[in-house]
Amino acid sequence: MGRKNKRQAFLNGCFLWEDKASISIFDRGLLYGDGLFETLRTYGGEPFRLEAHLERLAQSAAFLQIPLPFEKDEIKGALRELLRRNGLKDAYVRITLTRGRLTGRLDLGGKEPTLLIVVREFKPYPKRYYRLGMKAIISRIRREPRSPLLQHKTLNYLPNILARAEARESGADEALFLNTAGFLTEASVSNLFLVREGQVLTPPVSAGLLPGITRAVVLEICRRNSIPAREKNLRAREAARGDEAFLTNSLMEVMPLSFLEGKPIGGGGVGDLSRNLRRLYKEAVRRELGL
Ligand SMILES: Cc1ncc(COP(=O)(O)O)c(C=O)c1O
Repeated sequence: MGRKNKRQAFLNGCFLWEDKASISIFDRGLLYGDGLFETLRTYGGEPFRLEAHLERLAQSAAFLQIPLPFEKDEIKGALRELLRRNGLKDAYVRITLTRGRLTGRLDLGGKEPTLLIVVREFKPYPKRYYRLGMKAIISRIRREPRSPLLQHKTLNYLPNILARAEARESGADEALFLNTAGFLTEASVSNLFLVREGQVLTPPVSAGLLPGITRAVVLEICRRNSIPAREKNLRAREAARGDEAFLTNSLMEVMPLSFLEGKPIGGGGVGDLSRNLRRLYKEAVRRELGL
């Protein structure tokens, strides 16, 4: 394969061919999952809500005391250049920050954090998911709402990976988590919304979940369009009795959820409000990015 078919990544200030980019075998991200990541999407060359993603990264990095080695504007510039070098317009973007090379004890700190940006051509979720809705199970794994980590997008994704495997084993597409108090939190890679009697409901961050950027955009859209929406602790049986449900993340946007534990939610199809919010989300992206 010639160079022209290869991709570049951004690693600690340098643009490198992906197969030449490497990190230390002592990187704390590798050794202890000691780091954070962000996943986002670009549309027509423009990243959507990049500022919000970088702000979440910066806040979580401050919480974990991982120095962010670049200013937000430098990261924005690096991403723009990386997209240009890879000739990408509609891209999946992953930004990874780790505590970097730090041998010895399990200390916080670390003076050489690793910052990596990788981009790929965006591959949409199959259309049938949007047409029919996803199917979810409830994972056997319970979330501890007081865990300091659930609100941060850390590199510790093993519970999510195991939950996703549980879903696949039972022929479902996603797995929802319950917390130790018995309330729903989120799904393995997405936030959860329920629609009941015209109200849009989503579990509060205090239940133990990632404050999703897409979740925030959907709540904003509801406010702007006078669609009643609020945070509420939800039990699994309430979700099963909901009229509609949907999931959100930066890649899938608004994804209908039509079955839970093998039983239909509402009519077992795509609800009107879910369809409407999907359309409004797409409109918001186009308006905001001037597309
Ligand atoms: C566990 C989890 N919850 C929620 C989300 C949604 O976050 P966002 O809307 O910021 O992409 C993600 C995204 O990957 C996730 O992994």
